[in-house]
Amino acid sequence: MNRTLPHTPFNGSFTSAAPPAAESSANPESVFPPGFVWGVATSSFQIEGAAHEGGKGPSIWDTFCAQPGNIADASNGDVACDHVHRLEDDLDLIAALGVDAYRFSVSWPRVQPLGFGDWNETGLAFYERLVDGLIARGIKPYLTLNHWDLPQALQDQGGWANRQTVHRFVDYALGMHRRLGDRIVAITTHNEPWVMAHLGHETGLFAPGIKNRAVAFQVSHHLLLSHGLALRALRAANCQARLGIVLNLSPVQAASDSDADLAAARLEDGKLVRWYMDPLYEARYPLDVWDHLGADAPKLQDGDLDIIATPMDFMGINYYSRSVVQAEGHYDVHTSGLPLTEMGWEVYPQGLTELLLRLHRDYAVPPLYVTENGGAFKDDWVEGASGWRVADHDRASYISAHIGAVGEALRQGVPMAGYMVWSLLDNFEWASGYAKRFGIVHVNYETQRRTPKDSAHWYHTFLQRQRVRRDEAHTTVARV
Ligand code: FCB
Repeated sequence: MNRTLPHTPFNGSFTSAAPPAAESSANPESVFPPGFVWGVATSSFQIEGAAHEGGKGPSIWDTFCAQPGNIADASNGDVACDHVHRLEDDLDLIAALGVDAYRFSVSWPRVQPLGFGDWNETGLAFYERLVDGLIARGIKPYLTLNHWDLPQALQDQGGWANRQTVHRFVDYALGMHRRLGDRIVAITTHNEPWVMAHLGHETGLFAPGIKNRAVAFQVSHHLLLSHGLALRALRAANCQARLGIVLNLSPVQAASDSDADLAAARLEDGKLVRWYMDPLYEARYPLDVWDHLGADAPKLQDGDLDIIATPMDFMGINYYSRSVVQAEGHYDVHTSGLPLTEMGWEVYPQGLTELLLRLHRDYAVPPLYVTENGGAFKDDWVEGASGWRVADHDRASYISAHIGAVGEALRQGVPMAGYMVWSLLDNFEWASGYAKRFGIVHVNYETQRRTPKDSAHWYHTFLQRQRVRRDEAHTTVARV
């Protein structure tokens, strides 16, 4: 059906776009320091395709997609955005957008099919072309080692529930450092350990589809431990890239002032925020959550917590919405009157400022990046003076308002270092399949044609203005 979409071919350059209304009122532009990094993000499984070629091993997401009922539209990552075969064009697209940085992830089974033992040269060469191609275009590579696509062969040995996987991960991190470490600006160990642990092993909504709370919390511990051990190993190997982790965090609010709702919100904050922040910054798990887990609390070994608390050079935060909790039943997002995205997530930009202020207040955080932020919205194709376009005003104003929220955090003293839009392309949105589109660039999955949406044109214009400000600041300093 995609083929029938009206289309005006993208000519490779972006047009000037008027700012969405939200931006003018927030006027975020003046606060960003010259070194602030503007980027766009993707992940391997969601865009690459080429799932069964070039020597790649299967990942747990290949397996999960093959099991009926797991993915809303019964799709998989076999082709996705066909990025592996369209690398050069996609790199040109990123360059044309005008970002400083591109955040991508490496598919572990593409570079090391079993997750241990032999390396796959075809896979390594692909990422080398990607990284060199970014650098040649003046774009900083931000590499994530684990954006969920664990080699299936490791899952067959227990996956992240098996402490041995921690050591496999460290070997993998060192292997990537040996091949690419000299060219990478920043390495993220894991993307969103909460999602892997909780959705992957407690609710079973994501790969590997396990439903066991004790396993989920053991997995969270092993993910954190492997993060700390990888940091130590990379530093010992003289890795010059900045090292950190990416967490999905939200402010957690109670649905009412009742004692029960307040207690439920406090516990949820413990599981989502403090369960990760406390060990990373204070070498301890939050006691209230630990007590709540009882026999499901993870097994630790001496020294684990100190390893987890190894200092980081930066931390990434993925922010989409707030979380509202009530003790009985589920909070109904339709009651707040806030606009909702296609995912049913409330649009709540001020939650990002609140969250960043809280992290800065409660923890000794390093420079922070928003490593993902964006929205799934319905895309309207409209015919304008210069042809057909995707008029995604909702997405542009979502992004603009959240950039404003980051600006507000900066103004209040939070050490913000960068902001990255999720996502460059429409892509495979995990259990939602291809139905939910987060891209600022539209992908026609039948023709693989890329069409920048109005939000991409807007972001491009915004970035150009940032660049002008930066150049002006530079000139002023030079003159002094
Ligand atoms: C985040 C994931 C990312 C994408 C967005 C919408 O949780 O890191 O891959 O799916 O949500």
